[in-house]
Amino acid sequence: MRKILVGVSGASGMPLALRLLGHLSAMPEVELSCIVSEGSAAVLAAECGMGPGELTGHARHVYPADDLGAGPASGSWWRGEGGPAAMLVVPCSMGTLGALASGATRNLLQRAADVALKESLRLVLVTRESPLSAIHLRNMLCLREAGAVIMPFSPGFYLRPQSLTAMLDHFCGRILDQAGIAHNLGRWAPENAASAPPSPHTSQGDQP
Ligand SMILES: Cc1cc2nc3c(=O)[nH]c(=O)nc-3n(C[C@H](O)[C@H](O)[C@H](O)COP(=O)(O)O)c2cc1C
Repeated sequence: MRKILVGVSGASGMPLALRLLGHLSAMPEVELSCIVSEGSAAVLAAECGMGPGELTGHARHVYPADDLGAGPASGSWWRGEGGPAAMLVVPCSMGTLGALASGATRNLLQRAADVALKESLRLVLVTRESPLSAIHLRNMLCLREAGAVIMPFSPGFYLRPQSLTAMLDHFCGRILDQAGIAHNLGRWAPENAASAPPSPHTSQGDQP
């Protein structure tokens, strides 16, 4: 079993977090844990009309964001049998990004990500903000240099998604690729483009 910890912070993109948690919870090789920041509740309500319980219901272990004594706050929790543990912050707000870049972590989600970095484990930050200020960009560079994967939520169109779900699933696949988790959520291949239905919105396919 691989420990995968998903942190959900208060940025736009809750439908992506829901899809990702759904996919991970269906994978027998994944031991799924989840931390939901306090700030995510308002965004979840606005974007999905849900409470945090509907999000965390996918996970085997749920850790309260204010419990700084919980397992993920310690490097030893992350070690054990199975493949390397990884943390995915989906979506990652600029507030959480800034806390991580400064090292001044204030809740369990941030502390766990800080620990993943210091333990040289995979940390994927699916950032969501636009446009980006110089501060946001510097924070991203700082974290990239510290070993995190910075993955702005920027969906691709080259598989010609016909629905929001298809678009989200393609991006979920790209996140899982970064964590080294096998999936069948689609990836670019020229023959896929040739057989894909024509997009109702574009006359030309873009390039991967
Ligand atoms: C509806 C809504 C959408 C938001 N979208 C974003 C966003 O896309 N990116 C972002 O950085 N903050 C966004 N915020 C602001 C964060 O939720 C806020 O800064 C929060 O304090 C972040 O805390 P957290 O990182 O601990 O969850 C949004 C807030 C609301 C209410």
